Amino acid sequence: PRVTLPPYRIKVVEPIPFLTAEERRQALADAGYNPFNLRADQITIDLLSDSGTGATSAAQEAAAALGDESYAGARSWFRFLDEVRDLTGYPHILPVHQGRAGERVLFGGLLKPGQLCISNTHFDTTHANVTLAGAEPRDLPCPEAADLDDPAPFKGNIDLAALERVLTGPEAHRVGLVLMTITNNGLGAQPVSMANLEAVRELCGRHRVPFFLDAARFAENAWLVGQREPAYRDWTPRQIAARAFALADGCVVSLKKDGLSAIGGFIGLRDDNLHAACEANLIATEGFSTYGGLAGHDLERLAQGLREVVDPAYLGARAAATARLARMINDAGVDTVQPPGIHALYLNAGRLLPHLSPQEFPGHSLGCQLYLDGGIRCAELGSLYLGRMDERHRLVTPARFELVRLAIPRRVYTDEHFEYVAAVLADIAKDPERVQGYRIVSSPPLLRHFKVRLAPA
Ligand code: F0G
Repeated sequence: PRVTLPPYRIKVVEPIPFLTAEERRQALADAGYNPFNLRADQITIDLLSDSGTGATSAAQEAAAALGDESYAGARSWFRFLDEVRDLTGYPHILPVHQGRAGERVLFGGLLKPGQLCISNTHFDTTHANVTLAGAEPRDLPCPEAADLDDPAPFKGNIDLAALERVLTGPEAHRVGLVLMTITNNGLGAQPVSMANLEAVRELCGRHRVPFFLDAARFAENAWLVGQREPAYRDWTPRQIAARAFALADGCVVSLKKDGLSAIGGFIGLRDDNLHAACEANLIATEGFSTYGGLAGHDLERLAQGLREVVDPAYLGARAAATARLARMINDAGVDTVQPPGIHALYLNAGRLLPHLSPQEFPGHSLGCQLYLDGGIRCAELGSLYLGRMDERHRLVTPARFELVRLAIPRRVYTDEHFEYVAAVLADIAKDPERVQGYRIVSSPPLLRHFKVRLAPA
């Protein structure tokens, strides 16, 4: 039968809350109209993040029971190390408690103040950690990414011509790092092709610039490469992922995504000196180099999770589920960034809500409406997050797009949950003008979207 079946069934469940419309209205008001401030027990379907929110397997929990909590050199560390080395091929592996800790340690050793870090698109914490290291993050997404409706297969790619211009231009001496985010979370969950990574490898080699991967979704990128890049049709996801790691000089990885665990991450390195510098920083700030802020039971879950995540049956079913949700949402009259990726869908709120100006934050407004109508939590990727504001929190430069991200936790929700999400969206799409805008009441200076408080405009 032509049905993509997940290669698992449900063994342990947890209840989800159902609130009345009035309770949701009150909860959102108490949260300052910022879904990050909601309590989990006020949320029916939580699509805020795919990070650390997945379900673990029975095999992972069985492994966790064997967790060795020795301070140094624990058995669990060597199980984790073997698995990560086997996957990535990097001689040096440093464990960290999550991706951004890896970013801080890596950039501390790799970037000097005043240098440039060039990326297809920096994730928000990556952007912040490059800045905190005194360097300047610069995004060079490929031109196709600017057209949200373009179904081009690899809209996560870097603009190779623009990269070469920087590497040969007047700023060439400033480039300290090229960092490729796979998949491109900041730009619609779009994958990066192997051809693009190979070209980056060649350019970085020629100009002697370190080339690293931000590989939080390495397995999902590998799956999409296998589906969309003819030269890799016969490769397994694991082989494709290994090839991507082989092309780079190192990586920083949040394992809260494709590690299929609630916490974890690592840095992979080839360079001995960089490893020594990062290891010293790691021991001072994260933990000894055989645990890096993780418990033995975490390392066990991760080692097993890394084996499960490259299963083609798992990746195929997950990709199919996201694509099905995209079709239901599109059929309901709401456009999503095309083509659909795997870990999230990005709703085009700017197009759905033309009656709201960027000053009224259409993406955020749609996110709030999803909560008010259906108890669904998600995150804005529009002017509230990316726009430039003056000191009185007035929007000066809007974001390019007003999007809302529906992130899909791994192995958590069924098709019925997704049908519900599509039904809530369909009701909004029937009468979009009832969605009201919002204005900022108070806002922190850095990483605004996490702590901002708003009110109906
Ligand atoms: N890089 C990418 C591409 C990410 O998506 C994330 C986290 C990080 C780095 C940082 O990793 O959270 O383990 O410290 N993304 C989550 C998200 C938070 O919801 O997209 P972390």
